[in-house]
Amino acid sequence: MAGKHSKTPPPDDNDDNSELPDTPEHVRENRSYWDKRAPDWVASGERNWAALEPIWGIWGIPESQLHLLPADMSTLKAIELGCGTGYVSAWMARRGAEVVGIDNSLEQLKTAKRLTKKHALQLTLIHGNAEAVPYPDESFDFAISEYGAAIWCDPELWIPEVHRLLRPRGTLTFLGNHPLTAICTPPSGASCDERLHAPYFGMHKQDWRNVEIDPGGIEFNLTISDWLRLFRRTGLELMDYHELQAPADISELRFAVSGAWAQRWPSEQVWVLRKSA
Ligand SMILES: C[S@@+](CC[C@H](N)C(=O)[O-])C[C@H]1O[C@@H](n2cnc3c(N)ncnc32)[C@H](O)[C@@H]1O
Repeated sequence: MAGKHSKTPPPDDNDDNSELPDTPEHVRENRSYWDKRAPDWVASGERNWAALEPIWGIWGIPESQLHLLPADMSTLKAIELGCGTGYVSAWMARRGAEVVGIDNSLEQLKTAKRLTKKHALQLTLIHGNAEAVPYPDESFDFAISEYGAAIWCDPELWIPEVHRLLRPRGTLTFLGNHPLTAICTPPSGASCDERLHAPYFGMHKQDWRNVEIDPGGIEFNLTISDWLRLFRRTGLELMDYHELQAPADISELRFAVSGAWAQRWPSEQVWVLRKSA
């Protein structure tokens, strides 16, 4: 893996799975978790690569409702932080952007690289930690994460890192779990219910390694006021904030949240930010 803040981007065939001695524990855990889970994400990756209109999050909210991507990205250099199977990168490349995707899991990147070839697109896909991206300061106009760095990286590390990577007035958009889901998830790891199982104040790391149901992975989230304070401290201005509601016709369980729950409470949030000039 390329070194922290190295100024030289690595070649995109970098398949070194070795750890740097100072790799944080959550990055090591999440790498092995995602390498194991990658096969489960191939089918949804293929579907999303083939989608004509982007759809977002676990409820598949259409881009025509959310407007998270500029229609014309042909003058933009974009980065996806935690790109997984790479479909968000593909959607940006189809809008004309020059795209870099970074992911911590070689197995996820194998799918992303295969689909890039199959769909005849040009993406630069690199293996690494989105908390320490091997690109120079101010390399990108647009940064995005859908359930990548957005939930698997420590906000105190990746938010300042993306600020470093963006040019002045560049955009960061990220989508992940709403903090309410973290406190409504029972300690067993069962699906969200209608009780508050954990404190809201002080929320930061959610370690799922020892839960009974679907153990593994370390996630992060903050209270709304802590996110806002972090953005202000870092130099990111808030442009928009969405709390996503599940569509009325979805009742099933998706990733430990039922449609019925997410019709009453927000299970996902989207932050849209701009680097100060
Ligand atoms: C749910 S996927 C999100 C990507 C894409 N939207 C998808 O659904 O396929 C989560 C991805 O975040 C990646 N990830 C986790 N920690 C990361 C880190 N520190 N740096 C870069 N990527 C990371 C995982 O390897 C995984 O591929």
